[in-house]
Amino acid sequence: MIQNIYLAAPKLCLVLEHKKEIIGFLLGGYTALPRQAHILSIAILQEYRGRGLGKKVLTHFLSTIQRLNYTSVKLEVNVDNHKAIKMYEEFNFKIESKIRKYYQDGSDAYLMIKKE
Ligand SMILES: CC(C)(COP(=O)(O)OP(=O)(O)OC[C@H]1O[C@@H](n2cnc3c(N)ncnc32)[C@H](O)[C@@H]1OP(=O)(O)O)[C@@H](O)C(=O)NCCC(=O)NCCS
Repeated sequence: MIQNIYLAAPKLCLVLEHKKEIIGFLLGGYTALPRQAHILSIAILQEYRGRGLGKKVLTHFLSTIQRLNYTSVKLEVNVDNHKAIKMYEEFNFKIESKIRKYYQDGSDAYLMIKKE
């Protein structure tokens, strides 16, 4: 699945390496109509969290999509993931709607969108 995501949009997939170990990643995709980037997954290895690396990866991704002329970016985040929601809000993502039972365990997600 990860390989397919990567092959569909290699420029929108990032890995963060430290001493040759992958310590974080962001998998991105896009829709053509509307032309919109999509953050499919982002994570930082547990022991490296809270050091600004999530923001670093997100900043890099946002500058990439700007360069590629995407005017908006969307993502889904678990409604209980307060840490991630706070990070996205700092980057001006806004909650657009709630998607009920988005996750396999039945939990809900927020659809968040950042527009230029
Ligand atoms: C979400 C995640 C990627 C953030 O990465 P990180 O490297 O820990 O984040 P940063 O250190 O760059 O912090 C970014 C912002 O997140 C928020 N944040 C980070 N740690 C937090 C905490 N303990 N409590 C509340 N907010 C927190 C803050 O807004 C922070 O910005 P600030 O330091 O300016 O206040 C990381 O926690 C993670 O991998 N979580 C598990 C996977 C996940 O939930 N992914 C998101 C799915 S949509």
